[in-house]
Amino acid sequence: MSEYLSKVYNPFPVEVQEALGVYIFTKSGERYFDTFSGIGVLAFGHSDPDIKNAIIEKVKRHAHISNFFIDENAPKVAQKLVEKTKRNKGKVFFANSGAEANEAAIKAVKKLKKGLLVSFVKNFHGRTIGALSITGFPRLREPFVPLLGDVVFLPHNDVNTFKNFMENEQREIAAVFVECIHGSGGLNVIDAELVELINEYKNKKNYLIVADEVQAGLGRTGEFFAFQNFSLKPDIVTVAKSLGGGLPLGAAIFLDEVSDVFSPGDHGSTFAPNPVALAAASVVLDKIDESLLKEVKEKGNYIKKKLQELNKKIVEIRGLGLMIGVKVNVDGQKLRQKAFENGLLLNVLSENVVRFLPPLNISYSEIEEMLELFNKSLMEVE
Ligand SMILES: Cc1ncc(COP(=O)(O)O)c(C=O)c1O
Repeated sequence: MSEYLSKVYNPFPVEVQEALGVYIFTKSGERYFDTFSGIGVLAFGHSDPDIKNAIIEKVKRHAHISNFFIDENAPKVAQKLVEKTKRNKGKVFFANSGAEANEAAIKAVKKLKKGLLVSFVKNFHGRTIGALSITGFPRLREPFVPLLGDVVFLPHNDVNTFKNFMENEQREIAAVFVECIHGSGGLNVIDAELVELINEYKNKKNYLIVADEVQAGLGRTGEFFAFQNFSLKPDIVTVAKSLGGGLPLGAAIFLDEVSDVFSPGDHGSTFAPNPVALAAASVVLDKIDESLLKEVKEKGNYIKKKLQELNKKIVEIRGLGLMIGVKVNVDGQKLRQKAFENGLLLNVLSENVVRFLPPLNISYSEIEEMLELFNKSLMEVE
């Protein structure tokens, strides 16, 4: 690690030469199996040829032109995102990251409604001040208080607490922020009953629903948006991660009555949307078709079934589609180290949950290889 880099990460001790599909190749010639696709960014694996070509062709023309111009792909990508929500209308604000997409959502909420922002324990929305303010991890927020005021965190999947809160809270509620599957918070899937209540009280309390789809969106769960696995009716949807095919791109999608929330000057970005990232996004979105979504579901179910029989050190399996959390009863960091020695890169969250985010187009033979290396590492770890 360089003495000139902020010590905020815990990197693997390798130097990467190149990355292809599920593999990362180091300068010293080792090959590693990447189980988390650049933290859910590389939906089609490393260096997908279609995405790579789109990037190269665009960058040959220009890398940036500023938002004094509308890029040829911006309306197309925006239209596709809106259409995939299956709602009547919508408009997109492009950002550079998940946190930025959520900042745009928070600003939109604040412009339209006064009142509390309701979030859930273990929701993760990003590390900028606004996104952090609604992130349900006290240890991440505490060093930076005071953050945004008027934020309430309710326990996740606790239907009675939600109901009591909505019945008894006297203050106005501006918005409820939902992460249908907790990405960083342990891959817990939202309870269908809670979704019903969030929809129901929206009408009674007149708040907005924001669905953070930064990690679970864009096909990862086997539906285009994770909220489509449930009956959730969001007013704002945020995406990022895999949208730009490896380049930074996020979006806040404002739906139906919320579509026209922003007027000139309300919000903006020097960089977003980057035209090269948009060229990649156009390809990424074209690749997420019905047959891919079906495959994601089938492969997700296949992996979960195999994991159930794999090893006694696995105590719980969570998630949807190819967004899978595996809770183990061994030390997660020791497992990460053992897997690394076996050529398998694992992303271990707190409470010993391993997060699998393989490429959406992973093959069955790659799945077998991943599970074999995972099992070997589990057997060898104390
Ligand atoms: C659900 C969710 N929202 C927001 C973010 C923040 O995204 P970014 O790191 O691009 O700012 C993340 C990142 O992991 C995420 O998983």
